Amino acid sequence: MRTWDAVIVGAGAAGLFCAGVAGQRGLKVLLIDHSDKIAEKIRISGGGRCNFTNRLLDASAPQKHFISQNPHFCRSALSRYTPQDFIDLVQKHGIAFHEKHKGQLFCDHSAEDIIRMLLAECTAGGVTLQTACGVQAVRALDNGYELQTTQGPVQTRSLVVATGGLSIPKIGATGWGYEVATQFGLRLVERRPGLVPLSFDGEAWQPYAQLAGLALPVGIETGDKKARMHFDEDLLFTHRGLSGPAVLQISSYWKGGTPIRLNLAPEVNLPERLQDAKLRSKKLLGNELAALVPSRLAEAWVGQDPALQRTSAEVPDKALNKLAEALSNWSLTPTGSEGYKKAEVTLGGVDTRDVSSQTMESKQAGLYFIGEVIDVTGWLGGYNFQWAWASAHACAMALPDAPPA
Ligand code: FDA
Repeated sequence: MRTWDAVIVGAGAAGLFCAGVAGQRGLKVLLIDHSDKIAEKIRISGGGRCNFTNRLLDASAPQKHFISQNPHFCRSALSRYTPQDFIDLVQKHGIAFHEKHKGQLFCDHSAEDIIRMLLAECTAGGVTLQTACGVQAVRALDNGYELQTTQGPVQTRSLVVATGGLSIPKIGATGWGYEVATQFGLRLVERRPGLVPLSFDGEAWQPYAQLAGLALPVGIETGDKKARMHFDEDLLFTHRGLSGPAVLQISSYWKGGTPIRLNLAPEVNLPERLQDAKLRSKKLLGNELAALVPSRLAEAWVGQDPALQRTSAEVPDKALNKLAEALSNWSLTPTGSEGYKKAEVTLGGVDTRDVSSQTMESKQAGLYFIGEVIDVTGWLGGYNFQWAWASAHACAMALPDAPPA
């Protein structure tokens, strides 16, 4: 049986990148994926254009953009392999890209460009790729590991787990990485869906269900004074609840049973503008409000309260103030999230206390973890891919050299 220098399980973002870098260092690398279609998350990412990194990532203050029980864990890898390093690689492959807002970089054409690039890097490193290959069992040897796979046994000196998180099971996500960690006595941080739409009680949501499809910029926050998190992003109303970047971002910080607060008119001083309308306007309040917020939103709010269905001048100050407060500080408690079926990432994972931040090797010698399987989760906006690239690079550079022939 052939012994590989490194077997990498999971041909997603982290696994593909790690394989290419390690292969180009001269290691004999086998990359395995149980799916016959690799890199599915890259393919569907960024609406098909892959938001592959973020120019604003601040590796010296990772807690700004990453969530982990130890937010400083990711600092070393992120500062050694930076967004600019990945941009250089993308440029070397002639892939056209552009910046959207807040430092987010997307392919001009398609996420397939990134997959092709990663595969080309693997080819340059002489990596062997085995798809539709499941791993049934892993056993530690004196100097490495033996894997029973659906395509036969393989031996390796180093084993790299790059199987990602639990989100979107229908395209191949499994908890295999967590099982391997547990098998070798490593600790896990509780997992839950992140970057996920939030849902609300059906009946209570009824007045807002008519707003499905409406998108608008908002301020959104959650948490108490000690741990308040705030984002200014776009919100999307859905049939079941709320989505859009604002809600995806806040969902990673939201704790079940607690409220989120929304400012639906963050650029308008609503109390002042409504009072002003009351003094000078003969129009219905709903029409005045529709000039300040999207008209469907104005209709939904005014429609809920007969006291507001009059001309602005006729609406009592108290009702006006209540309306301004309701729109600029709308507090509502989600019943839950839409779960792994819709989540972009998995929070939690392999406990960073059991993994080296320099090499990604775990306390179990020769066993490495990279990418989303570790308890490191980034914000929306290219941060999760940058973590995949950076952790993969740290690991690939640290894998032991092949022994002399
Ligand atoms: P990844 O999930 O990429 O790869 C894991 C691989 O392991 C898969 O190929 C899977 O088939 C394989 N695997 C799983 N279990 C296995 C087993 N038991 N045996 C063998 N193989 C197994 N991030 C970002 O920065 N910018 C973006 O634009 C987006 N957009 C986005 C959209 C959507 C819809 C989702 C769901 C996610 C994103 N993300 C994102 C997040 C990003 O896709 C994610 O964080 C990275 O892909 C994680 O990379 P990994 O390599 O760790 O896992």
